[in-house]
Amino acid sequence: MTSLVRRVVNKLYRLANSNQFLPREDQIITANGSVLLQDNFLSDSDFIKVQNWAFNVPCDLNREKRRWDMQIVRNFTECYSSRQWSSAEDDMPAAARLVVDGVRKIGAIADEDTIVLGVLRWQPKSGMGEHNDTHTKTAFSYYLNDIWKDNWFGDLVLYESMADYKAGFGRSVTPKANRLVINKDTVMHKVTYCSELAVERVSIQGFVLKD
Ligand SMILES: [Fe+2]
Repeated sequence: MTSLVRRVVNKLYRLANSNQFLPREDQIITANGSVLLQDNFLSDSDFIKVQNWAFNVPCDLNREKRRWDMQIVRNFTECYSSRQWSSAEDDMPAAARLVVDGVRKIGAIADEDTIVLGVLRWQPKSGMGEHNDTHTKTAFSYYLNDIWKDNWFGDLVLYESMADYKAGFGRSVTPKANRLVINKDTVMHKVTYCSELAVERVSIQGFVLKD
């Protein structure tokens, strides 16, 4: 290799390994735009406000009361839920409103759309089989556990298209603190089994309901 070629190769190598060619590390939009992942979604102080609210709000609804499809949850343990609040009503708590405002700021949900959200407390050994939330236009999950170990599983797996679903090719998202995932086209998805060693997996689940 001549010195000129070596210099060019070294330059290209440095450029390829610099940040300028990488996407923003805290945001991923999938190829067909159906899924958007945003890390560091809220500021640290707003995250703590939402976390404090969510960990203390009553979550006394079980899956049966929420009328979840027992076919897709029957082999899993309980996931408790709070009541749900609507962005169109005045009684939405301030912390929940922070999440709604943040989601709107990203631009994935139209300003005129009503967002409904609540808190979910996924117990160890819980999970949910494959389904799509056909009653919704858009769904999002926001994760609140400060610590979530890889071997606790509890991943959200999204299949970006029916072809991917049929091929068993999913995109796996771990419930990392302050991470928002928006399922824009309500593609097929599931929540993998949470280990019995895991702590409660606490998330906010939001929907834009169909008209
Ligand atoms: Fe779902």
